[in-house]
Amino acid sequence: MIISDSKALGYEGDTFFFIDQTKLPFEEVTVRSNDYERISSAIERLEIRGAPAIGCAAAYALALSYQSGSEEVFLTAYDRLRRTRPTAVNLFHGLDAIYTVFRNGGGFGDCLAEAREYHQKDILSCRSISIYGAELLAGKKRPVTICNTGAFAVGGEGTALGVIKRVHSINPLELVTACETRPLLQGARLTAFELDKAGLPFRLIADSAAAFFMSRGEIDFAIAGADRIAANGDTANKIGTLMLAQLCNIYSIPFYIAAPVSTIDFTIGSGSEIPVEFRSGSELNSVRGVQITSEKYPAVNPAFDVTPSHLISGIITDNGLFTHPYSFTK
Ligand code: MRU
Repeated sequence: MIISDSKALGYEGDTFFFIDQTKLPFEEVTVRSNDYERISSAIERLEIRGAPAIGCAAAYALALSYQSGSEEVFLTAYDRLRRTRPTAVNLFHGLDAIYTVFRNGGGFGDCLAEAREYHQKDILSCRSISIYGAELLAGKKRPVTICNTGAFAVGGEGTALGVIKRVHSINPLELVTACETRPLLQGARLTAFELDKAGLPFRLIADSAAAFFMSRGEIDFAIAGADRIAANGDTANKIGTLMLAQLCNIYSIPFYIAAPVSTIDFTIGSGSEIPVEFRSGSELNSVRGVQITSEKYPAVNPAFDVTPSHLISGIITDNGLFTHPYSFTK
């Protein structure tokens, strides 16, 4: 299957579908299911991942749980889905959009229509982010990025990676540097896959090689996505993002976040209140099922870190660019 810019997940012919991201880049497997439990476990296992995509998938899953018309099943699904991934605030926004329709007496059809609209809004947000980002960054040649923030991570074309692609379409980039993103390798597997398909010049680096390339003057700017942004601009994103931001600060390289306004949590004043997901240590001790060290060795695996807002040169949203000190408009 060829992945177009907005087809990592969606609803087609009465069925929810998604590309199983754990199998990429080797296999492009499309899963079809209307079962909220299957979709919940897909979110937990990172078959569906990336904050905006999680929000869209959760919205569809909750709407579909109401197909039988059972309020009990709907409420069980709501609780189940809320427990899948704690950091991505879009999860809760997606679920709450559907829950509001339910609470106001909407039926299955209304919930599904809301999920589709939620997805549509995400597609449009991505478009705006990449346009604003390209206005800011066109002409720069050598970005570095971390994790995957492209078409797999969202309902639309991407956030940070969407900006990179649009910048390239206006003024070709020389070289995109993609951090591999230990431990689950979203950079090495998914970002590389997308950059390769889109024909952009890129190289993969170990996360720990970022300082090496910055110190040699080979990076012009860094751009990453976000899982949750506090009202003061502190930003939770994939583990390793904080290190990139600190390095950028040391080497006087601008560091940007690209994210939809739906990733801002206006109820949280600062990053210290963002819940950080810790995943199983087994994701460090093994890689794609192959044991790389003893399973007995204790491994600790935070999935995200929080970058303080003063290290962020700008947050590119669907409402335009915000800069420090951050004060967002919805
Ligand atoms: O654990 P993941 O792969 O879901 O983490 C994803 C990220 O950290 C992304 O950068 C973030 O969700 C933004 S995606 C547009």
